Amino acid sequence: MSPVPPTPSPFPPPAAAVVPLAATDLAQVAAIEEAVFPEPLSYAEVVRLWARDATVYLGVRDGDRLLAYFGFEVQGPTAHVISNATHPDARRRGLGGLVLRAGEEFARARGARWFLGEVRRSNVAQLRLLARLGWRAVGLVPHFFGNGEDAYAVWRLLP
Ligand SMILES: CC(C)(COP(=O)(O)OP(=O)(O)OC[C@H]1O[C@@H](n2cnc3c(N)ncnc32)[C@H](O)[C@@H]1OP(=O)(O)O)[C@@H](O)C(=O)NCCC(=O)NCCS
Repeated sequence: MSPVPPTPSPFPPPAAAVVPLAATDLAQVAAIEEAVFPEPLSYAEVVRLWARDATVYLGVRDGDRLLAYFGFEVQGPTAHVISNATHPDARRRGLGGLVLRAGEEFARARGARWFLGEVRRSNVAQLRLLARLGWRAVGLVPHFFGNGEDAYAVWRLLP
């Protein structure tokens, strides 16, 4: 008799698959940062931010492997985006949207009323993703990033 084949995991995974990150996930956050950002957060910076009471780091894992994450800091009504990214091998499967959407509930639970972030002017993928999720570009911040690139200030009023 042939063995029962494993049940394939649903993709995209359900929102319930988005969980607060543990200390053991942070090396993978730093590794993804290093792989995808021109000015990545170091492991030490990620650990320092994660340890702050105001910070929320959420992610989606496949086993022990981190596929996508979203970090933000809540100060009063503002949930300020630290960063979000999807592992390059796991893109265009809805995971970026999944973690950002899940972040809304976590932000609201901490008293936030809106998200605020800064996105590189050249970052078409993130700008499209945010537009689909109801974020608005509310202004251009010249030379915001360390390499001189402009940022769009992006904002989402939490429903
Ligand atoms: C931006 C990013 C987070 C998107 O993650 P993702 O998991 O691939 O996103 P999703 O699968 O949820 O994409 C949802 C929608 O966003 C838009 N989008 C995502 N990637 C895109 C791309 N490369 N080009 C154009 N639109 C894109 C599309 O509208 C997409 O829907 P579709 O796949 O049905 O066309 C990912 O590309 C990434 O990690 N980039 C590097 C890190 C980064 O720039 N982070 C944001 C700055 S803090």
